[in-house]
Amino acid sequence: MLPGSAPVLLALTVASLFHSITPAIGWRPWPHHKINASDLALGDSKKYEGSSEFVHMKYHMGPVLTANITVHTIWYGAWKNPQKRILREFINSISAVDSKRPSVAGWWKTVQLYTDQTGANISRAVRLGEEKNDRFYSHGKTLTRLSIQSVIKSAVTASTRPLPINPKSGLYLVLTSDDVYVQDFCQNVCGFHYFTFPSIVGYTLPYAWVGNSAKLCPGVCAYPFAVPDYIPGLKPVRSPNGDIGVDGMISVIGHEIAELATNPLVNAWYAGGDPVFPVEIADLCEGIYGTGGGGSYTGQMMDGADGATYNMNGIRRRFLLQWVWNHVLNYCTGPNALDQ
Ligand SMILES: *[C@@H]1O[C@H](CO)[C@@H](O)[C@H](O)[C@H]1NC(C)=O
Ligand SMILES: *[C@@H]1O[C@H](CO)[C@@H](O)[C@H](O)[C@H]1NC(C)=O
Ligand SMILES: *[C@@H]1O[C@H](CO)[C@@H](O)[C@H](O)[C@H]1NC(C)=O
Repeated sequence: MLPGSAPVLLALTVASLFHSITPAIGWRPWPHHKINASDLALGDSKKYEGSSEFVHMKYHMGPVLTANITVHTIWYGAWKNPQKRILREFINSISAVDSKRPSVAGWWKTVQLYTDQTGANISRAVRLGEEKNDRFYSHGKTLTRLSIQSVIKSAVTASTRPLPINPKSGLYLVLTSDDVYVQDFCQNVCGFHYFTFPSIVGYTLPYAWVGNSAKLCPGVCAYPFAVPDYIPGLKPVRSPNGDIGVDGMISVIGHEIAELATNPLVNAWYAGGDPVFPVEIADLCEGIYGTGGGGSYTGQMMDGADGATYNMNGIRRRFLLQWVWNHVLNYCTGPNALDQ
């Protein structure tokens, strides 16, 4: 998702582009959307994995991340080591070769299907790069979309161990702790991606922000590990790593990394005719975690012996991660699909 593209606008844009036919667009229990609990309980059986002949995922000739991708992380605010370990393992799992199936690496194979003008695919390799701690909230506990860029500037210009400047294959991930509010957080975004402006940071660097929603809106951004108060009767599922906020961030981080890889400068892969409100490869599949998913139904997930719900394996841990759009098949796909 891009910073300015609220799902409401996306939905409107898609709806108007596709002649008011029900769009295949991701789902989350946003507070301002009217939700009918009985629809939720039944699942929206009209939509299957976003499949739609009306979605035209198009390539707009811009660069994609074809060189080995390095994720540089900025830990903004108060992060505990066990939380960092879960998130690091998730990123390391993206190109891990020997995880149990269905695996996060299997999920990334759909992203690898996207190419640039030369026919080069998105890189298979995604590795954890340098990290920077911003423990003392250098820009306060309330951030705007623009001040996220200032956080990145502080990290790349720090006097001790600055993050490396890597515009071609670096990807900068700003993770805010559960006591930090970011503009529009919980209302219509759980994370977003964009690129930094040379006038602020000095370079054009693809970056994403994802917040820990544990205190502010777990029922929205850590759904389905928590459910919103305004949907009575809906039960949360147990998170696989025992930390609702962090387990909820996994899917949002995956969403943003998939979109950064395929649309880093917002001129490569997206659907819709308006570049201001592009519908990107993860937007189309938000809320879809398994076969049959669509609308407010998550699709088939897996239950561990410990009662946790997940849909794929990392190196040692399990994760719940949304699917992404497959432009070859024209629907959302994931490694845990039942028909594979
Ligand atoms: C919710 O949906 C059900 C079935 O579609 C319908 O019968 C019911 O009237 C709806 N409730 C509200 C409050 O809209
Ligand atoms: C890219 O990653 C692969 C696999 O991790 C590695 O073998 C290769 O040397 C890397 N290439 C560069 C240019 O770093
Ligand atoms: C590269 O992309 C093409 C076109 O989508 C696809 O057929 C091919 O399998 C991809 N290669 C890899 C290694 O994913």
